Amino acid sequence: MTNIISIQNIAGHVGEEVTIQGWLYAKTGKGKLQFLQVRDGTGIAQAVLFKPNLPEETFETAKRLTQESSLIIHGTVKENERAPGIPGRHEIDAAGLEVIQIAEEYPITPKEHGVEFLLENRHLWIRSRLQWAILRLRATVMRACRDWLDSHGYVEMSTPILTPAAGEGTSTLFEVDYFGDQIYLAQTGQLYNEANIYSFGKVYCFGPTFRAEKSKTRRHMTEFWMLEPEMAFCDLDGLMEMEEQFMSYIVGRCLDERAEELKVLERDTAMLEKVTPPFPRVSYDEAVERVLKIREQTEDPEQKELLAIEWGQDFGSPHETALTRQYDRPIFVYGFPTIAKAFYMEPWPGRPEVCKSVDMLAPEGYGEITGGSERISDPNLLLQRIHEHKLPEDAYNWYIDLRRYGSVPHSGFGLGVERTVAWIAGIHHIREANPFPRTLGRVYP
Ligand code: 4AD
Ligand code: MG
Repeated sequence: MTNIISIQNIAGHVGEEVTIQGWLYAKTGKGKLQFLQVRDGTGIAQAVLFKPNLPEETFETAKRLTQESSLIIHGTVKENERAPGIPGRHEIDAAGLEVIQIAEEYPITPKEHGVEFLLENRHLWIRSRLQWAILRLRATVMRACRDWLDSHGYVEMSTPILTPAAGEGTSTLFEVDYFGDQIYLAQTGQLYNEANIYSFGKVYCFGPTFRAEKSKTRRHMTEFWMLEPEMAFCDLDGLMEMEEQFMSYIVGRCLDERAEELKVLERDTAMLEKVTPPFPRVSYDEAVERVLKIREQTEDPEQKELLAIEWGQDFGSPHETALTRQYDRPIFVYGFPTIAKAFYMEPWPGRPEVCKSVDMLAPEGYGEITGGSERISDPNLLLQRIHEHKLPEDAYNWYIDLRRYGSVPHSGFGLGVERTVAWIAGIHHIREANPFPRTLGRVYP
């Protein structure tokens, strides 16, 4: 009987004879010893091959192994404080080795490679420690999202990707030829979720989202994953309360379950430990004042230019970065100017130039990770907005219908998975938070 284990559980197998199936990550050795760093998808463990303990031929084979060769190792798990690996502190005293394939010369080596080269080889790059750690973290973020929502009464609804109308403005639509008709790839599932709440109360959709963003920034992708909860009988305050609970849970799960990965990423987890409710709430008006004050105090002419903003404009990343540096946890900026936001947002009572919108901005300069609002619940006002935004009324008939049959105040938001993961992982560019990123300049591999 072979006792196949996962490296992530190695500490639970001390003294046992085990089998590990994986790939060679690195190799050192001299004389009678060979040290193989083997990865199996769940971690990296050192296998120690001591010549007298193995058939002559096996030891010679080990010496010929190349990086990324696939193999099976049999041996006994030993504790060793100094053993490298993830989680480390344990190693395999090898008694046998089966080689599945000797890999060809591997293009990604421990030396520095340019990021374009790495992106061109993304199908191989995902095997590297840092990328592995980021993508494991991503899976945990996605799992945590679902777990929190599923245990709080939200029903998962799939929303369409092929859509006849814009959800978030017409400038970032990807067009699709649908048997001669022009339709679009979904920018959001929100509009459909607003229908879903009238059947299920609380819902969410979770899937790929498409934006023809011409921006080449570290925060923009053309295809990204968005999680969108939507709640009936929920106003702007209720939305912020839900979001801060939800985000704190996600970060907590990452700290609990992905400590090894965060260590690999050299993430300062003290910053993440602070992510607990309540998050500071800053009105757009106050946020603009704060940004202008920071601008006044800066000596740097370039910063001065970047931080310029007038009431009515949406924030760009320099504004968000400057603002969030003043806080130690995520903040809410609420009450944006109506003209800066989408057509469906509920106006502020008595102040129609402002809408009941809210963005969550992550600290440490990361900026917007969620965007949401209370939605217009009056059919006539919604119709007026559709006209003001020059949207085709016909395509939105069904959406206006939702306000005709038992309309209620309702709210929701969208969380960008890659932006959230980039912040929690502490990485610079969000593209590394997606296994196969699509950006302005790249759709390969
Ligand atoms: O703020 P956004 O545009 O909001 C909506 O789409 C709403 N319909 C969501 C809702 O209320 N149900 O996008 C939501 C989030 C942003 O905060 C950001 O995290 C992410 O989606 N996002 C992007 N992530 C990567 N690349 C892009 N081009 C993104 N655009 C938005
Ligand atoms: Mg937004």
